[in-house]
Amino acid sequence: MKKWYAVIGDPIAHSLSPFMHDSWFNEHGIDAAYIPIHVEPSQLEKSFEAMKLLGISGFNITLPHKQSIVPLLVKLEESAMQMNAVNTVHSDGTRYVGSNTDGDGFVRSMLVHSVDKTSKVLLIGAGGAARGIAFALKRAGFTDVTITNRTFRRAEELAAETGGSAITLASSEESLNEFAVLIQTTSVGLAADEALPISLERVTAGTLVADIIYNPLETPLLKKAEEKNCVTLNGVGMFVYQGAIAFEKWTGVQPDTEKMIKLVTEKLG
Ligand code: ATR
Repeated sequence: MKKWYAVIGDPIAHSLSPFMHDSWFNEHGIDAAYIPIHVEPSQLEKSFEAMKLLGISGFNITLPHKQSIVPLLVKLEESAMQMNAVNTVHSDGTRYVGSNTDGDGFVRSMLVHSVDKTSKVLLIGAGGAARGIAFALKRAGFTDVTITNRTFRRAEELAAETGGSAITLASSEESLNEFAVLIQTTSVGLAADEALPISLERVTAGTLVADIIYNPLETPLLKKAEEKNCVTLNGVGMFVYQGAIAFEKWTGVQPDTEKMIKLVTEKLG
């Protein structure tokens, strides 16, 4: 029987997840479909009950429901507990299980670039996205992660929780040449004319500079990093790999991520 998957969010019309998952279902001959469902915050609980009743096999959760879905789920994987946010729900046969594949998705997209796990990593930002990535880096075995943030206290708190160290934004700019990997997780760069979240004046050529933003494809930070002869990575990889991990939970199949990165990039370009 055909299986149904979905993504719920508000707004939802521009999500690329239906395109991505339907392409993968087709490619692997899996009899399933993935639909976007517009759910307003006041309707989340009822919608969740409806999904259960209809036997939706699995779903993604996007803004603004990632945190408010947590109390509705009786079972959470470690990734979701650490972030107190869920982006993926799958069934363990009897009940729905919540997980969060965003952080692991980012780390997988980065590992494609043969990054050494002993590299000195600077994580810029200390919000929800940074939190997921900090825990995922730890899970993946990265041993040298430093967190910097506009509000230093939040960097200190996240570092204490994840076993990393914290540094002020000014000090990180001073010592930027020491880092082999920079990961930008703040919202600065969503508008093309915005200032940089960190000055790249002292960055070393060849440093991997990653931005989790994928729209625009090239943020002002990535543009600057290219001028400095760094290796750049935009957020398309994170988007595709978070989806691939969800797809694996639902179907047991590992989809073709590199081809999907090209297709999604074409759509956004
Ligand atoms: P998300 O879940 O997307 O990470 P968030 O939890 O609101 O969102 O976190 C936003 C991050 O972007 C924070 O690190 C925030 O820094 P503060 O903790 O100092 O607020 C950072 N951020 C947002 N706007 C910024 C700006 N204009 N300059 C520097 N950092 C900014």
